[in-house]
Amino acid sequence: MHHQFEWYRKMQKERPVYYDPDFQLNFGAKGAWHVFRYNDVKRVMSDYKTFSAQVVPISDNPLSAAINNMDPPHHKFLRTVVASPFSASALKRLEPMIQQISEELLTPHLENEHMDLVKYYSTPIPIYVIAKLLGVPFSNMEKFQNWGKRLSSNLADEDGKAYLAALKEVSDYFLELIEERTAQPKDDLISYFIQAEVDGQKLTPKELLAMCIVILVAGNETTVNLIANSVLTLTERPELQEHLQQHPEDLPKFINEVLRYRAPIQSLNRIALKDVELGGQLIKKGDYINSWMGAANHDETVFPNPEVFDIHRKNLHLISSFGHGIHFCVGAPLARLESRIALGHLLAKVEQIRLQPDTQLEFHASTIHYSLKGLPILFKRRSA
Ligand code: HEM
Repeated sequence: MHHQFEWYRKMQKERPVYYDPDFQLNFGAKGAWHVFRYNDVKRVMSDYKTFSAQVVPISDNPLSAAINNMDPPHHKFLRTVVASPFSASALKRLEPMIQQISEELLTPHLENEHMDLVKYYSTPIPIYVIAKLLGVPFSNMEKFQNWGKRLSSNLADEDGKAYLAALKEVSDYFLELIEERTAQPKDDLISYFIQAEVDGQKLTPKELLAMCIVILVAGNETTVNLIANSVLTLTERPELQEHLQQHPEDLPKFINEVLRYRAPIQSLNRIALKDVELGGQLIKKGDYINSWMGAANHDETVFPNPEVFDIHRKNLHLISSFGHGIHFCVGAPLARLESRIALGHLLAKVEQIRLQPDTQLEFHASTIHYSLKGLPILFKRRSA
């Protein structure tokens, strides 16, 4: 993936905004403007009057009613509905559960001193947490993973067929659950979304379905990759393993720098609502834009020496990894919490984490996610 960073630097210098007619968007459309510089990325993500988030074109696609695809004024309503289950106090209550699942998952591997971190640790933790929150069975983990991948594998999905098929499956899955919870509410997010009311307004059936899908998909793949990318970074920098074990209070800074360096979401889309000039180019009304947050995080005008991994950078709050403006990730505190607990537990139990020799790291085919297929590691169990 380092070649990706070189490509970003080159594009930032030579073609900071350019049209790629062959670029494949995950929902099947083709052709988009690539945007690489920090200020342009920030503008595209936050200037909703010019760059609409309503990119999903198929009218019967439930995701056209999803919060991340909704523009103002209606976005505000969806945001108010989703904000409260992700408040600081709601998250505080999740800490013991996240700690417990981290322990349960790691313990069986301590004796062996090796594991595929993606398969056995970074993947199940966020999926377990989201499954618990939503109130869906954790035993469906592989299904959730598979839907998440197919909804974002733009490079492997020429005509969007895999996207539409996954969308149908995940919709059927949730429609059944929504029916069950409507008849018999439980203490879970699906039941909350069914009942939630803001100023006398409730979610429409389509919005309800979209909300469930977005929480499942947005909350899984991203956090899986944040944890895996963090451990990959630790294998490259053994000195950080010792430092963070002794100074767990620096874990949030470390996680922030991983978010900058290897953003779990590298790029997302908008659609132009009017003709607009950006980076000396004329973007036409109706054109798609592919905004590279992964590149913005490596823009040397904002993050000097971007290829240097430094947990003590002073301006990490500027990172583009969770977006900018009204759509700023509502799950960011949860993602940070899960990663801090998962990494803290790993570092407390093992040392000398390294890649298994001769490992060729492979990534999933997507320009959206920075996503390792596997991460085989060796380590030493710490003496208690
Ligand atoms: C490291 C993990 C995560 C990353 C990198 C990430 C990234 C992002 C980004 C970049 C956006 C902005 C989308 C846009 O502007 O188009 C976003 C929005 C969103 N994220 Fe996350 N996310 C993560 C974890 C989560 C989690 C754990 C949840 C929930 C359980 C979540 C739920 C959402 C939702 C609902 C939105 C839409 C917010 C809105 O449109 O107002 N995310 N996320």
